[in-house]
Amino acid sequence: MLQKPKGTYDIYGEKGKQIEYIESLLKSLMSKYNYDYIETPIFESSELFHRGVGETTDIVTKETYDFKDRGDRMMTLRPEGTAGVVRSFVENKMYGYASMPVKTWYFGPMFRYERPQSGRYRQFKQFGLEVFGSDDPMVDAEVISIAVNFYKILGLKGIKVNINSLGDKESRDNYREALIKHFEPVIDTYCEDCRERFKKNPLRILDCKIDHDKEEMKNAPTTIEYLNEESKKHFEAVKEHLEALDIDYIVNPSVVRGLDYYTHTVFEVEADIPEFGSQNVLCGGGRYNGLVEAVGGPNMSGVGFALGLERLLNALEAEKITLPYDNSLDVYVIPMSENEKSYAFGLLQALRMSGFKADIDYMNRKISGNFKQADRYNAKFVIIVGEEEINTRTLTVKNNNTKEEYKVSEELLINFFDDNIEEEH
Ligand code: HAM
Repeated sequence: MLQKPKGTYDIYGEKGKQIEYIESLLKSLMSKYNYDYIETPIFESSELFHRGVGETTDIVTKETYDFKDRGDRMMTLRPEGTAGVVRSFVENKMYGYASMPVKTWYFGPMFRYERPQSGRYRQFKQFGLEVFGSDDPMVDAEVISIAVNFYKILGLKGIKVNINSLGDKESRDNYREALIKHFEPVIDTYCEDCRERFKKNPLRILDCKIDHDKEEMKNAPTTIEYLNEESKKHFEAVKEHLEALDIDYIVNPSVVRGLDYYTHTVFEVEADIPEFGSQNVLCGGGRYNGLVEAVGGPNMSGVGFALGLERLLNALEAEKITLPYDNSLDVYVIPMSENEKSYAFGLLQALRMSGFKADIDYMNRKISGNFKQADRYNAKFVIIVGEEEINTRTLTVKNNNTKEEYKVSEELLINFFDDNIEEEH
């Protein structure tokens, strides 16, 4: 039997409904925060991710799905959303918009060749957002608060918000020097990757999965110690704005993020749920003030974050949260015999076009089987269409919960359901 590729999964049944619900919730949340939907290609030139995500990151050196297209161009399946959105921002000259900042959101599959385990896949879904053009620390706080409020709306309680600051270019350069001084005496005892990172980008040593227990890793200098006055001021303001929004956070100097583009604020929301497993970072993001320029645009700032859908579903399951999506059908239409099928089919279309969730049997079930099917669909009402109903143009309508029966004339049928089914149509 043919099987799905390692590290991927299928979405169907209840999981499909959960994802539909989460997606609609995100859509309505994003409209409240005044963000616009953006969609960029699932594959981009490999160069974009080298420039965007960073040459020395694990994502680019070990995890990309690369291929040459038939025109001999090197392409990469996107491992994350930010680089593509920045490319689109630059290419479509959105930096010229009068209505700055440009606030965008996206939802779609990302691809990383990682070792699969619970909460870690090779194809996974991210919801993300990116804001361009504002240096105001209020934007950093807004982005963090969207993540936190989204988890709150879903009812998730076990979350921990870790924030940190990497500072501006000057602060980052000073920090880099400090790291070089710190690791220089011992770098020969580190793995080959770390020795390479030491030369190209010493910050990435801190991501090492082989040497992470070494003493120098634990007492490495922190970014906060090297923030200049400007950067300190920015970070203080972010914290103040978070407090104004009642967002609980912890300043955690070990959060440096595994992508190269960050400056100033970085953050991660962790699942704080017993026995959740090692893949407990639910989302992450931060400010990336040099990225637009690195991708060929003007010197313009950006802030954003992304959350993984699979880890979110795991967290909801761990906290036994059921999502309140509507699992019922408004009306199930039952023709008594073959002769009434076409008329019943016409009724069904009229119901659907009036905004009701309605269905009919397509499996030639007997009447009793049809009533069972109405129950499986949690139908609120059943319409029975027999010879007499057609002759008198009066339908038999049954409330599937109370079992009460009504005779409703054809022309008043939609009014009847408008009055008896409470929902927005
Ligand atoms: P990231 O931390 O690499 O950041 O990924 C964000 C989230 O995607 C993670 O917190 C996790 O929930 C999910 N995720 C990552 N890898 C996997 C995987 N292999 N399987 C399942 N879920 C995964 C970014 O991608 C940045 N682009 C975020 C950002 C946006 N920063 C600024 N703007």
